[in-house]
Amino acid sequence: MAGPATVNKKRVAVLISGRGSNMTALIEAAKADNYPAAIVLVISNRPDAAGLAPARAEGVVTVVIDHRPFGDDRDAFERALDAELRRHHIDLVCLAGFMRLFTKNFVERWRGRMLNIHPALLPQFTGLHTHRRALAAGVKEHGATVHFVVPEMDAGPIVAQEAVPVLEGESEESLAARVLAVEHQLYPQALRLVAEGRVSASGEAAASR
Ligand code: GRF
Repeated sequence: MAGPATVNKKRVAVLISGRGSNMTALIEAAKADNYPAAIVLVISNRPDAAGLAPARAEGVVTVVIDHRPFGDDRDAFERALDAELRRHHIDLVCLAGFMRLFTKNFVERWRGRMLNIHPALLPQFTGLHTHRRALAAGVKEHGATVHFVVPEMDAGPIVAQEAVPVLEGESEESLAARVLAVEHQLYPQALRLVAEGRVSASGEAAASR
């Protein structure tokens, strides 16, 4: 809902590929009048992403940019993505289960203005299957991290992190569920910090547009 309260809010795009539960958590949090960001755009690279329906139901503009017609031309896919972000005057990008890797070029363009959530206590367990690997490694604590995106995967300055204790006899599913519940709290908190300018990627000035 546009109105005076939305005037100074950062305009945020959430990029998804699937379920979109973190996207929904961000949309919910951003409904608060005093939240410093508005989720104005959801982009999916998959036409069948389950998260598209709840975004539409909340009245958020959704755009599908299917990566497949672009084949190996990652630059062309990213140009289409970037054009959409600019068209909607996006200030900050939140990756939420977005399963495409970016070129250095795209990351540099959005450096300091693009966040990701990863289901592990980075720098531990970058990549996929983090819960299974955490259990196999026998760690006592697992968790979730929100970080600024840099060209290296699952790296970059950490904005917020929260630990989850690993319980005796825990299954991958139960650990994943408890981490996900933490993610849904953590991502809105981290976006708030960045949108309010209370946290920034030091020494990494945001690219000018
Ligand atoms: C989350 O676990 C997130 O940390 C990871 O991908 C998953 C996305 O889940 N990057 P959802 O689509 O937000 O439900």
